[in-house]
Amino acid sequence: MTESPYLDAVRCQNRGGRPPVWIMRQAGRYMPQYRKLREEHSLMKMFRTPELIEEVTKLPIDLLGVDAAILFSDILIILDALGVKWDVVQGRGPVLEGMTDASLHLDDVHDKLSFVAEGIGRIKESVDVPLIGFAGAPFTVASYLIEGGSSRDLKRTKVWMYRDPAGFTALLDLITNATVNYLNMQIDAGVDALQIFDSWSGHLAAGPFEAYSLAYLRQILSRIKDPNIPVTIYGKGVSFYALYLADLQPSCLSLDWQCDITQMRGMVPENVALQGNLDPYLLYGEWETIRGEVDRILEGMADDPGFVLNLGHGVLPDTPFENVKRLVAHVKQAHASQA
Ligand code: CP3
Repeated sequence: MTESPYLDAVRCQNRGGRPPVWIMRQAGRYMPQYRKLREEHSLMKMFRTPELIEEVTKLPIDLLGVDAAILFSDILIILDALGVKWDVVQGRGPVLEGMTDASLHLDDVHDKLSFVAEGIGRIKESVDVPLIGFAGAPFTVASYLIEGGSSRDLKRTKVWMYRDPAGFTALLDLITNATVNYLNMQIDAGVDALQIFDSWSGHLAAGPFEAYSLAYLRQILSRIKDPNIPVTIYGKGVSFYALYLADLQPSCLSLDWQCDITQMRGMVPENVALQGNLDPYLLYGEWETIRGEVDRILEGMADDPGFVLNLGHGVLPDTPFENVKRLVAHVKQAHASQA
């Protein structure tokens, strides 16, 4: 990899270049080629087979021309190292079994998740854009464990958190240790950057946000073995906590769509890059509408050395593929036509 607008931008060093673009959940069901693979293999097999991890990770590079690859996996794969069985059920999302204190333990991450390291090795041999590795933040992973799946309000999680802070903290400590080992394994295997997804921390009030989200993100950042690997932090529904997240000094903050990224640029320190922040539903609109919103962000962030264009959350499964393709092409060419 000789030059990468993505790596330059997450390091706030993209001076004079075009803004990089990639899409959260860029390999997924909105792609006909992905749906075809899913007809042949179960999702659990795809997540656990190095050849398929490589093949799916490469789809958006080949079909969209995005500036970064993201490892094809899931934040819940860490459960394989915690002795918890899980699956993703059509129409319901993730479903977890067997969450009892007795069944939870930390196995050797290298052993239980070796297929991820092998997948990363294969991708690195055949892809010439940077590869982003990732993990879920402890609070978000804990919420799946406690809820047994997706939840509208995280009621069980929050009730447990308030009733049994010591037990809740012990669970977060366990997940954090697994996550640090897992991220460091990904670095050893060759990823160029990392992103941490705290998708559900937006449910937290300020005190618990500090105690159960920020404190653990801070710990993870300090335990990542290679300070040269840029780390992006993503949270959903946390724009109002963006300055606390920026205080952690991640390389980059990935913003959801409920804030004005240009206004955020004025508040977040200059050495923290910003990624975002189109509404995923925008991609159901007519092209003129899409272009209007994209150009609004591109103009607001023009010449910013630390800006990555992305959505504010993952691309949705029935998004028209052509719109995603056109979005990527537009971002890559908009700068060229200005110059
Ligand atoms: O960005 C990428 O393309 C990389 C792969 C990736 C997946 N999940 C693949 C996946 C990443 C980065 C994730 C992260 C993830 N997984 C998060 C954090 C980001 C976010 O969206 O908030 C969360 C909360 C999960 C948990 C999870 N896994 C959910 C909510 C789902 C979707 C359930 C559904 O039915 O849509 C999954 C399954 C999953 N993970 C799919 C993919 C492509 C769906 C695949 C399928 O059904 O074929």
